[in-house]
Amino acid sequence: MKILFATPECAPYVKTGGLGDVSGALPATLAALGHDVHILLPAYKGMKVSGEIGDGVDLPAWGPWPAAQLVPVKVAGGVTLLLLACPGLYQRPGGPYVDASGRGYHDNALRFGLLARVAAELGTVHSPLRGWTADIVHANDWPTGLAPLYLGQSRMISPHEPTAASVLTIHNLAFQGVFPMESADLLGVPHHWRGMDGVEFWGQLSMLKAGLQFADAITTVSPTYAREIQTPAHGVGFDGILRARASRLRGILNGIDTRVWNPQSDTLLPHRYSAQKMQGKAQCKAALQARLGLPADKGAMLFSVVSRLTPQKGIDLVLGALPRLVATGAQLVVLGQGEPDLQQALQEAQRKHPKQVAVTIGFDEGLAHLVEAGSDVFLMPSRFEPCGLNQMYSQAYGTPPIVAPVGGLLDSVTDASADPARGTGFVMTGVDSEGLDDAIGRAMRLWREPQRWRRIQANGMARQFGWEDSAKQYVQVYARALQDLRGPAS
Ligand code: ADP
Ligand code: GLC
Repeated sequence: MKILFATPECAPYVKTGGLGDVSGALPATLAALGHDVHILLPAYKGMKVSGEIGDGVDLPAWGPWPAAQLVPVKVAGGVTLLLLACPGLYQRPGGPYVDASGRGYHDNALRFGLLARVAAELGTVHSPLRGWTADIVHANDWPTGLAPLYLGQSRMISPHEPTAASVLTIHNLAFQGVFPMESADLLGVPHHWRGMDGVEFWGQLSMLKAGLQFADAITTVSPTYAREIQTPAHGVGFDGILRARASRLRGILNGIDTRVWNPQSDTLLPHRYSAQKMQGKAQCKAALQARLGLPADKGAMLFSVVSRLTPQKGIDLVLGALPRLVATGAQLVVLGQGEPDLQQALQEAQRKHPKQVAVTIGFDEGLAHLVEAGSDVFLMPSRFEPCGLNQMYSQAYGTPPIVAPVGGLLDSVTDASADPARGTGFVMTGVDSEGLDDAIGRAMRLWREPQRWRRIQANGMARQFGWEDSAKQYVQVYARALQDLRGPAS
């Protein structure tokens, strides 16, 4: 199958969160299964890409969009990266979505509208890449949400021309890509698709809703989240559409990129280790303590967080648990960035307890690996979590996670109290301070029983979180979407 994977971020080139990790690993796994995979990604400022660069294809200016170029680069893993170069839209200081001060770019509708439009075009007979038309256009989250709509538009205009089937993966339903309805003119959304059955969301245009309405198949990143988002409690206004499209919706758990996240081969760690040889983990703990200025105390239980600092991630619950952690002599390491009030509260805690709390504000891939390796317990008390990757990384690194009983966390962590033989971490009884306190208490008790603790670590490290099974499930989704669109012959 020819698969176009359209994404606003892709590790290791540009990453703000889990979507970057998924984009860095799933396409390569699909390619290893024998598929022809192209990743469409904007060429942002400062991105370093190495590989064999092919001839660029000019995309003429069109409607509100300036001229752009598609530059194919054959990168490691047998995948072609299609860089969408449009300097006026993408070459800016700041991140993919927000400027250096954290504000969304004023022209995001245009920036991601172009990404979605080019993605759709690559799935039509008018594909700008001569000789290559996608069978599947795989869109991810709101920035590519318009791609299924644009494909629908092509089908409407030229019903006899084949198009790719579209698949939308929801990585986070809370980011809805909402813009003033006036952008519909700019983006070329047909009038009859601007209502409730189209892109309209509380009077505005939602790019995510466009994807939910028009994609031939929808997936999300864990089976539990797939069920949760069909309820008012987790549907953030889209549960009705998702219930209506339930037969096209499937939850597929993310995997982890074992080339990048493996304590036996991780080049970002000062010491490597395995379940059989755990000395390296103790050395990583000492290295982490030294790097962050914490006392090199083996006996201090070290809890950690690596996260976007937002209400989603339950950081307020961590702040609530902090006095108790500190009182028991534990240490807490936090690496993250996000909402200013959460950053300040964490920094304040560090000022109060400099020997026990170390807070690093920023995005630091190398430190993230050291934190996973060097801590004893990883905290993830998320209010909702479509999948979550850090709880999987921490299990692979022998760092049992404490997780909230939601989404992909439930699908990837086995509670050690409920199932001592197979437990890999601690599942909170509820997403609240009692739930977190209780889980911390259970972890602290078991940590003092080294044999039982090693069992939990070994269970987590033995888990197979690779991508292959999930990639095969995506292939099934693609095949079914194609069959529904073109009939069984194709
Ligand atoms: P989300 O995508 O919701 O942020 P995930 O758990 O799926 O959550 O993925 C987050 C990814 O981003 C992980 O790879 C994690 O290590 C990384 N990450 C988050 N914050 C930071 C940070 N401050 N520094 C380095 N890596 C980070
Ligand atoms: C989102 C979710 C996270 C998920 C990631 C990758 O950012 O918040 O739970 O793991 O996407 O799918």
